[in-house]
Amino acid sequence: MGNESNLEKMVTYSYLKKYFEGKKVFLTGHTGFKGSWLLQILEALGAEVKGFALPPENDHDLYHLINGDQLCKSSILHDIRDASKLRYELLHYEPDFVFHMAAQPLVLESYKEPLYTFEVNAQGTANVLDALKHLQKKCVVVCITTDKVYENNDGHKAFKEDDKLGGYDPYSASKAAAEIIISSYRSSFFNPEHAHIHQKAIASVRAGNVIGGGDFATNRIIPDIVKAIKAGEEIILRNPHATRPWQHVIEPLGAYLLIATKMAEDAKKYSTAYNIGPNPQDVLSVEMLTQIAIQQAATGTYRIQEHTQKPHEASTLMLDISKVTQDTGWQPVYNAQKAIAKTMDWYFDTRNAATKCTEHIHEYFHWNE
Ligand SMILES: NC(=O)c1ccc[n+]([C@@H]2O[C@H](COP(=O)([O-])OP(=O)(O)OC[C@H]3O[C@@H](n4cnc5c(N)ncnc54)[C@H](O)[C@@H]3O)[C@@H](O)[C@H]2O)c1
Repeated sequence: MGNESNLEKMVTYSYLKKYFEGKKVFLTGHTGFKGSWLLQILEALGAEVKGFALPPENDHDLYHLINGDQLCKSSILHDIRDASKLRYELLHYEPDFVFHMAAQPLVLESYKEPLYTFEVNAQGTANVLDALKHLQKKCVVVCITTDKVYENNDGHKAFKEDDKLGGYDPYSASKAAAEIIISSYRSSFFNPEHAHIHQKAIASVRAGNVIGGGDFATNRIIPDIVKAIKAGEEIILRNPHATRPWQHVIEPLGAYLLIATKMAEDAKKYSTAYNIGPNPQDVLSVEMLTQIAIQQAATGTYRIQEHTQKPHEASTLMLDISKVTQDTGWQPVYNAQKAIAKTMDWYFDTRNAATKCTEHIHEYFHWNE
């Protein structure tokens, strides 16, 4: 079961609308999976969005399916490594909120393209923060990193925000580097002690693996499961025992929005790092997630891939979310079973993508109350 009563108090449509309606949001990575969901939520809240990202990679990407261009005030399709273009677009927009999501987000890809991953994820984050130095107005900034920023020795511990940063693979290291960059800019240029002068609030948010309708990335478990089931093929599991804090995509997005509202009220208190994740009982192995997904789809079989040379990936990842709960009241709403059920429903529902996303968003944020 979830914490529905908590949700009613915290991350509701009527609460969020007070902060976002009519506000300007600069969203990097708006053409991606999480970006496309956030775009729809922001549009529903009455915010105006300027997006900055690369073009969607495929015609069937969620951004196309929801007609993302129509949801943006403007959509800048450009590389975040171009600091001067980014600065120009951000400063001319004069946003009230920035959500920085643009990234190369795949561990396996980071082994193939480590330099590119470092440039986009670390330097790209510095580019966003540097542009903000020149913005002469109040602005709330949420930088999206990941749960993989911690030095992970597979010690089965739930990481807290002040645990040591690290990163075995280039993706994790690039996001840990982004965290250090965020912390440095926050101390040097947007110090929370002087928030009344510079008027910026900067948080980093470290969420775990998300699932949900509309993810078509390669080498991610849910898209792999759905593809195999739809093709009548066996699902192949690379890392069946890898344990991850899975969440439905709306959960961290709701948390990002809630944290942003808190920063808008009190930049000094909330300009910090926050873990976002499920309750401990909902941290599942890849194999358990697959079994629940098959159960939900009422079809499908899987096989474990044996004896292959695989790049290193941490086997266990757990987050301690007590800081965000204590500071903001945020808690996960869906348990793992419900998150997986909602995800599989989305892929096997034949209605159009925008209708399905809207239905999920309305339900999650208590639209009619
Ligand atoms: N999906 C997950 O499970 C997960 C988990 C933890 C953290 N995250 C983080 O959330 C964010 C969004 O992830 P996602 O799953 O939506 O990824 P995605 O691949 O679907 O989207 C990535 C977005 O970044 C943009 N981008 C990539 N390289 C760029 C570049 N050089 N210049 C400009 N834009 C560029 C893409 O165009 C796209 O809009 C990322 O920062 C990712 O690291 C994702």
